[in-house]
Amino acid sequence: MRMRNKYKKPTTFPCNAGSRCSTSTVVWSLVGFLLMLHLFSLFSHKDRAGGQMQLHKSHQPLFRELVEVEEENIQIPPPKGKRSPRAAKRRPKRTTTLIDEFLDENSQLRHVFFPNMKTAIDPMKDNGNDSFYYYPGRIWLDTDGAPIQAHGGGMLYDETSRTYYWYGEYKDGPTYHAHKKGAARVDIIGVGCYSSKDLWTWRNEGIVLAAEEIDETHDLYKLNVLERPKVVYNEKTGKYVMWMHIDDCNYTKASIGVAISDYPTGPFNYLYSKQPHTFDSRDMTIFKDDDGVAYLVYSSEDNSELHIGPLTSDYLDVTNVYRRVLVGQHREAPALFKHEGTYYMVTSGCTGWAPNEALVHAAELIMGPWETMGNPCIGGNKVSRLTTFFSQSTNVIPLPGLPGSYIFMADRWNPADLRDSRYIWLPLIVGGPADRPLDYNFGFPLWSRVSIYWHKKWRLPPR
Ligand SMILES: *[C@@H]1O[C@H](CO)[C@@H](O)[C@H](O)[C@H]1NC(C)=O
Ligand SMILES: *[C@@H]1O[C@H](CO)[C@@H](O)[C@H](O)[C@H]1NC(C)=O
Repeated sequence: MRMRNKYKKPTTFPCNAGSRCSTSTVVWSLVGFLLMLHLFSLFSHKDRAGGQMQLHKSHQPLFRELVEVEEENIQIPPPKGKRSPRAAKRRPKRTTTLIDEFLDENSQLRHVFFPNMKTAIDPMKDNGNDSFYYYPGRIWLDTDGAPIQAHGGGMLYDETSRTYYWYGEYKDGPTYHAHKKGAARVDIIGVGCYSSKDLWTWRNEGIVLAAEEIDETHDLYKLNVLERPKVVYNEKTGKYVMWMHIDDCNYTKASIGVAISDYPTGPFNYLYSKQPHTFDSRDMTIFKDDDGVAYLVYSSEDNSELHIGPLTSDYLDVTNVYRRVLVGQHREAPALFKHEGTYYMVTSGCTGWAPNEALVHAAELIMGPWETMGNPCIGGNKVSRLTTFFSQSTNVIPLPGLPGSYIFMADRWNPADLRDSRYIWLPLIVGGPADRPLDYNFGFPLWSRVSIYWHKKWRLPPR
């Protein structure tokens, strides 16, 4: 855009010199034409850089802080003392990696990944210049001063009350293994709900869907599994509908569960569970499109692929329509969002509680085909980029009034003590050219890059 302005200058050169004017006009026109030709070829050459430039231009100065690339070097200390069994099993050799350190409960770097209570974010304290800053990985306190318990979370924005509701797994119980080969777990306590107007100060609204303590046949019986609750509001029925992953402790039930409430703060009434479209269903999310149609997205066929299908108009069930997407790619933890008519999805690999590389996928139609665009992570260090900053995607929140800007919500799971898992919230920006050739579209990247920028501390632009 700037280039075109430059070119305009010579053509509007003032002309007052009578007969000489025509010569000078011709000369200037010629110069202008050649300049335009040159700039045009320059512009088409630098098309890739052009996208980046446009992003920075449209986002300045509001977004400068969000897209700053922050490198972070973490020194691995020499081995000292005992390794925890988990770390020792993973890598019996002497050299350790950052991932080993992350998984080692006795690591000297523990405080880097799981900073202690002293550094907790407490929005009720007078934070001075630190107000509204996110510190990814630090303990985050609610308005009562207790650590927020909303893991594998989802976000509902209620437009009438301009309030955000954050739902997630309330995991404030002991971590244990149900049997030798079982994954680390916490008994179901329920779905926690927190409300906020500023996305920083969170009020505990209580457990809006509670575990069943006695009836062993109930889906919500405490020894079962409830993960990744997501709530959507249905305009037609005026109800809040919660979808979640329901499983037994061995993850063989592989179902979705549905609950309903008249209020965002519950209590939610649990309705039923099922295998959607008769398939196994584990990590899942719900995406509500602009036209009011909501979709269930779930990992299926033993997590080897994702399935996407619309819900019924009351959001209480799936229809019989579904598509298999990202077949054979083994992705989980899907988080969907839409930007300028294109659907984007962040997913993780399947490595249990251990972190792995995030990938972004894009599609023109929500039912696919979906294209894999690559790793969105920018900044941090090589290992943290390959581990989604030691976390796993769970949701992406659009920021009203800031087009192209989102908050990426992820969980930094702590398998040694799951209740102490941390929240990694980072700015996610759509813009600039994609950096991986695609399968369709003759390999040409059709969509903008999705970038998640690492920050030790950051905050939203003041509104
Ligand atoms: C806040 O920032 C201002 C300007 O940078 C500085 O003068 C002031 O000392 C800071 N206050 C605190 C409490 O850090
Ligand atoms: C889970 O697996 C273990 C070991 O295979 C078994 O003993 C237990 O009965 C299983 N539990 C359920 C609820 O299927």
